[in-house]
Parts: sequence; C-alpha cells; structure tokens
Amino acid sequence: MGIKAVIFDLDGVICSTDEIHYRAWRAIADEEGIPFSRKDNERLRGVSRMASLEIILEKAKRPYSPEEKEALAEKKNQIYVEGLSSIGPSDIDPGARKALDYLGEHGLKKAIGSSSKNTKRILGRLGIADEFDVIVDGNDIKRSKPDPEVFALAADRLGLPHGECLVVEDAVAGIESARSAGCLAFAIKDARKCPLKDYEGENAGDIVPLLEEENR
Ligand code: BG6
Ligand code: MG
Repeated sequence: MGIKAVIFDLDGVICSTDEIHYRAWRAIADEEGIPFSRKDNERLRGVSRMASLEIILEKAKRPYSPEEKEALAEKKNQIYVEGLSSIGPSDIDPGARKALDYLGEHGLKKAIGSSSKNTKRILGRLGIADEFDVIVDGNDIKRSKPDPEVFALAADRLGLPHGECLVVEDAVAGIESARSAGCLAFAIKDARKCPLKDYEGENAGDIVPLLEEENR
C-alpha cells in the first residue's frame, strides 16, 4: 500500500472554526472601520494570523505600524479564544471521526498539519490530542501555507517519504502546500476548486474508500 499516513488540516477538516474566526475578525474590522465581508473571509482560510490581518488591512484607509498590527492580531486572538470555549467533543466532524477510526483500526499513522497557533488548545477541547502520532502547528513553522513547510515537517516527523503521506485540506492554499511538499492531496469543500488536488470528496470520511481501494 502506498499511503502510510494521513496528515489532516485542523480548521475546516477536523472541526469547523470558520464562524468563530469570522466573528473575531469582524469585530476587529468593525472597530477599525474596515469593510470585511464573508467573501473576504474566504481568503483567510488556511492562512496564518498575521497574513490574515494583512489581507484585511488591504481595505484600510490608512497604513498600520508593526506595533498596531501586533496589537490587532493579539486582540483578535483574545476574542477568538473566548469563542473557542463553546466547542467540545461533539464538534468533531463526523467524517473526520470515521477517517480517524479507520486509520486506527488499520495501523496507519495520523498527523495534524495546521497553520493555527491554537491547534493544541482546539484538539484539547475536542478531546483528541492523544490520537495523533505527530502534530505540527503554527508555532512550529515560519512560513504560512501555501509554503510546503508545515506538511514537509509533518512528513519528516512521521519518518516517512512525503509521497506516502496523504494530506486532507479544505483550503486551496493547503492543497498547494501539500503538493509542493511532495505529499498527495485530498481536497474537500473550497479546496476542490484547486487543480493541483490528487483526489476529492465531501469530507474527511471520504478518504476511507480511497484507502480501502489501496488496501485491496
Ligand atoms: C488556519 C485557519 O487553520 O489557522 C486560518 O484556516 C487561521 O483561518 C490560521 O488564520 C491561524 O490561526 P490562529 O489560531 O493561529 O490564529
Ligand atoms: Mg483549513
């Protein structure tokens, strides 16, 4: 079998934090008088906190200093973290749960490759932090997706050739990242529009038929 491990993106794949991110950025944008729509929010998927702020500031009427940017990012994170207190084990995506169970039953490795610095907090709230062999998150990397760093590091920490790792992503930037790291890329949701994907499905649970096919 070619695929030995699956590296999951977190936000939008294991659980949906989109709305919590959106509300937090919205509060910041409103306070600063910067236009910010749900369409704008789509561009933030998979992108690091600072890079997300830069995208929001594209519509600002004045330039912001590095100190102001730091303060805005920090404030957004405080609002976001407060919002995270509402999530728990019932927020694990059912498809992701199915995929994790299959991997566990078949002795395949599981990893997380996320841009979020809140990854461990979120996995803790979902109660699944111990299920992963490797967790690479926003604290481990210098360059945000679509740079390959996050998935290359996850595959290296798994001790596997990158081509034996399947990445599951909901963001176009994540598919680009996975492919430039030399991993296989499974696209769900918004990421399906990315021509670089190797496979696609509705949710993370749809990797199961693919792995079953490979096992046959
Ligand atoms: C990604 C999200 O997983 O993490 C992005 O898709 C987010 O929307 C990024 O900006 C960084 O998250 P955090 O928790 O470090 O602010
Ligand atoms: Mg995502």
